Amino acid sequence: MHGGADRAKGFHSMTTPIVQSATYTFADTAALIEFLDAKIYGRELDREEYARYGNPSIWALERRLAHLEGAADAIVYPSGMSAVTSLFLTVLRPGNHIVMTDDCYRRTRQFCLSTLKKFGIETSIAPMGDLDALEAAIVPKKTRFLFTETPTNPYLRVADLKRLAELGKRYRAMTLLDSTFATPVNLRPLEYGIDFVMHSATKYFAGHNDVLGGVIAGDASRIRALKDARGIFGNVIDPHQAFLIERGLKTLAVRVRQQNQSALQVAHYLQQHPKIERVHYPGLSSHPDHALAAAQMSGFGGVVSFEVAGDIHATSAFIDRLRIPYIAPSLGGVESLVEQPAYVSYYDLSSDERLEFGIRDNLVRFALGIEDAVDIIADLQASLAQVPAVNSR
Ligand SMILES: Cc1ncc(COP(=O)(O)O)c(C=O)c1O
Repeated sequence: MHGGADRAKGFHSMTTPIVQSATYTFADTAALIEFLDAKIYGRELDREEYARYGNPSIWALERRLAHLEGAADAIVYPSGMSAVTSLFLTVLRPGNHIVMTDDCYRRTRQFCLSTLKKFGIETSIAPMGDLDALEAAIVPKKTRFLFTETPTNPYLRVADLKRLAELGKRYRAMTLLDSTFATPVNLRPLEYGIDFVMHSATKYFAGHNDVLGGVIAGDASRIRALKDARGIFGNVIDPHQAFLIERGLKTLAVRVRQQNQSALQVAHYLQQHPKIERVHYPGLSSHPDHALAAAQMSGFGGVVSFEVAGDIHATSAFIDRLRIPYIAPSLGGVESLVEQPAYVSYYDLSSDERLEFGIRDNLVRFALGIEDAVDIIADLQASLAQVPAVNSR
């Protein structure tokens, strides 16, 4: 709630004021020179100069996020994609190489395989959960990043962070973890020796399905370099966006604990239902990474994926009958969201092409909001009752 927050805020305000200003004024030239000297000699700056370089709402959010992740510093961006693309574009050089796991967010993978390739940066994809394959894909002296997510989308696979960090150190490659699905309430990746942790703050951090944002936390000098680059790229978050994310952080812990609890209840309910073929949730002992998740995480997260006993149409009809969740991409907000990955993220592909990505037509991703789990289960039950029995086990 209070970690990283300044108690004394501008104008004695309880909340961080939104300073809606594109530029900042100096009383006289001496004040300007004093500021420029501080900047040139790398001294701590106690004021802003121009909005592309920062804003009090942004600094306040960054301090809170660094605190949450146990990092020396953090940088925020206008979206999660902006965070990951800026990191790679700032740090990587032509000839560098990345190894990433196969179920990373589709747009991140696309960025690495197409945009970075244009700049002479190659990416190898290793199967999630197979650290030997990941190690085999490392090109010594060329691989600069090992990149994975945990838990992943949509199968909620969990990466072994201790082993990943060891591999990074052994091969002198930086490790980057997209921890969006976990949140620092459930997982603190830097404590395992991971170099950078990133989030789509759009999800649990903001938490209300109303704003985009991204964050990277890590070592002070590396984040400093990213902040310098942000001032050049110009991908600075709007102060109102930063304010909304900071507000979201105040309830992060209570929301995530409720989402963890509801997801576990929903997963247990679905697992025993005859019209559900399979449930993917790291909190279930049937999940391939359950033991690792139990050791590494303090909660299993708010997303449950499952396969309905039926074809693509029976699955969509099941989704359409649900009364509580909205049909929408995204996760982590107070409203439950449901999606059929075959449509939402992979509509442009055929069934067989989707299967190459491991996406089955009957797969459903349910991102729990903070509604009562009893109501959510009653909703699932009512809709499952109408799934044609002929398709069930
Ligand atoms: C795991 C993960 N990482 C990154 C992103 C990209 O974040 P944003 O939509 O905030 O740009 C997403 C978005 O869905 C995501 O799910």
